[in-house]
Amino acid sequence: MSTGVGTRPFLEWVKGEIIMKHISYNEKTKVFKLHTKNSVYQMQVRDYDTLAHLYFGADIGDSDASHRIISLDRGFSGNPYEAGDDRTFSLDVLPQEYSGYGNGDYRINALEVTHEDGSDAIHLRYESYQMTEGKYSLKGLPCMFGNAEEAETLEIVLYDRITNLKVHLLYGVFYDLDVITRSVRIENKGDRTVTIQRAMSMEMDYPNKHMDLIHFYGRHSMERLTERLPLYHGVQSVESKRGMSSHQHNPFVILCDRGTSEKHGDCYGFALAYSGNFRCEIEVDQMEQARLVIGIHPYHFSFRLNTGDVFETPEVIMAYSSEGLSGLSHIYHDAYRSNLIRSKYVTAPRPILVNNWEATYFNFDEEKLYNIAKNAKEIGLDMFVLDDGWFGKRDTDYSGLGDWVVNESKIKGGLPHLVSRIKALGMKFGLWIEPEMVSEDSDLYRNHPDWILRIPQRNMTRSRHQLNLDITRKEVRDYVMAQIFRVLDSCGADYVKWDMNRSVANVYSSALPSERQGEVFHRYMLGVYEMMEQLVTRYPDLLFENCAGGGGRFDAGMLYYSPQIWCSDNTDAIDRLKIQYGTSFGYPISTMGAHVSVCPNHQTGRTTPFETRAVVASAGTFGFELDLEHLTPEEREMAQKQIQEYKKIEHLVQTGDYYRLSDPFRNDDYVIWQFVSKDKKETVVNGVQLRNEPNPHIHLIYLDGLLPQEHYEDLATGSVYTGAALMKAGIPLPVGKGDYQPIQFHFIKTDKH
Ligand code: DGJ
Repeated sequence: MSTGVGTRPFLEWVKGEIIMKHISYNEKTKVFKLHTKNSVYQMQVRDYDTLAHLYFGADIGDSDASHRIISLDRGFSGNPYEAGDDRTFSLDVLPQEYSGYGNGDYRINALEVTHEDGSDAIHLRYESYQMTEGKYSLKGLPCMFGNAEEAETLEIVLYDRITNLKVHLLYGVFYDLDVITRSVRIENKGDRTVTIQRAMSMEMDYPNKHMDLIHFYGRHSMERLTERLPLYHGVQSVESKRGMSSHQHNPFVILCDRGTSEKHGDCYGFALAYSGNFRCEIEVDQMEQARLVIGIHPYHFSFRLNTGDVFETPEVIMAYSSEGLSGLSHIYHDAYRSNLIRSKYVTAPRPILVNNWEATYFNFDEEKLYNIAKNAKEIGLDMFVLDDGWFGKRDTDYSGLGDWVVNESKIKGGLPHLVSRIKALGMKFGLWIEPEMVSEDSDLYRNHPDWILRIPQRNMTRSRHQLNLDITRKEVRDYVMAQIFRVLDSCGADYVKWDMNRSVANVYSSALPSERQGEVFHRYMLGVYEMMEQLVTRYPDLLFENCAGGGGRFDAGMLYYSPQIWCSDNTDAIDRLKIQYGTSFGYPISTMGAHVSVCPNHQTGRTTPFETRAVVASAGTFGFELDLEHLTPEEREMAQKQIQEYKKIEHLVQTGDYYRLSDPFRNDDYVIWQFVSKDKKETVVNGVQLRNEPNPHIHLIYLDGLLPQEHYEDLATGSVYTGAALMKAGIPLPVGKGDYQPIQFHFIKTDKH
């Protein structure tokens, strides 16, 4: 065994431990410790250079947790040959840091490869480590960033003796944020080709199964619904094979103690910063231990590594909280806002927009668009966004994608002319694009029929009547981006909405040899990230919104490029209560695209009060998506007021702490949530009363996150309460008339008693 020693100046020896500020290695006990403000993560190099996982959870002082592993006869599990007569050493029961396939560990594994001779075993042993200041980065993949004050990196190298495959386990330790990131760099140092069949981004072994899994499932227009299930024997999984992180499952999961609630209890979050196929598997094994792995889905995945080649997995952002699910959400919200989202709009006030999609769909002309923008200006909006239908022959969704040239029969004089009129109103301008797609009825497809993903001799699968461009190919990416840059340059757009309205299918690239077809899904994602990187580099001040048929790619990967994502194509305020509730567990509120739309709602036919729609949309990026020309005078007045009201609370939405005060899956009377400023001097409670009742109950709601001894004034009534009263005695919900009534409270800390 050899140990590398970090080279940073403040790396010190303290009582046999080599330490950085928040990472240590004890040469005697061979225990690594990673410290965050409220958690510690421990690993140990054990017999036969096996890297075992010891502990992740609340700080346990200077103890190491190696006592948790005890030796028992495991003769009926596999015992490595080198263990000789020792039947107590078995990889099948040992908690490991990153397990390989084919060496007697029959559980789900983190790494599987095949070798040139057709064998598939891999046995990873500890080789060395290195500690560095600052956070590691990944080539071409989204990941958290951190300078020397914010983060430290531990890199542990494992290797396979036979093939000399090196596996670099990367740990980014963000002490103040209470976050540890993980990724794996696999390097072929041998002289034969190795093909990766599965390379999970991390593994986490727990000593018992007494936990629940919380995950976020759904469908198009109903994303990120919440489900909580106990772990059971066998394998549970959450996954996407659609080439996108998907509407159906989300690459963020929580494991928590059975008793964990919003306010109390232990919980662990795992967020994969990746927008393509993923799989999270949790296995409860024969010894009642639980193993979680998360990473790129092994389905239709393989990656060939010739001598010297390197493969990097996407990053997992991992957090532990002992303060319940709210505590865990706060960690993710803060971490993403400070060290994942790069846009200046993460804290800067965002222009409040009107989008023409639900107002016009494909049916508009220049005057119609201008009138929406003019009305928007009159009621106090900041930006007009032109959605789908402005280019090529795009009068329906059967044609036009790929032809990023303005349709002058709809927009006379072209985009620069329309945009100059809109900007002359004092409005900003935003534009919709869908760069990854092509319609069969388009010049792009007619000229380059081979630029799509298509399996030879087989017909394509249509979805929304469009096809996937082969984004793995550089010439395709460069062509599309050149078209789009030409348009954006010509009109000086302030905002871009990047849409993706179908899953990836027919997964075959004519530009890759047969043995590399397993790389297509991942190379597709790398291509998308490269295009997005070009966009944000070229236009650093652009407000960039991601979208994939609504919330089909709502993940930490996309947030690295855009500060907001269109949360769902469903704009119905009542359905949004569940969608936004589920999304809030893992993602900051300010990342959720949310608009006031018309009623009866276009997706559900439901009618809700105009004010209620605004209250729900203000738990997000807030904007409008309806024909402003057709607002009644009362609605116009309300809209003006709503915009002003939102501007008063925007700082709380963007930077405050968010509390889910009720669970829409368990309470059908009301749904409420709360924002609290970081200094705890201001709080807003918003929500919707779902059903009106005759002879009604008094529903008391209990606030959170306030200073118990301080006083808070209700800005609507002037009543003053202590923080303790608001949190412990509660306040009654107003009794309204009719269903779907809005709930709004705004309290400010006061010296009045
Ligand atoms: C799906 C998006 O989510 C909608 O907002 C809209 O942009 C349409 N695509 C346009 O095709």
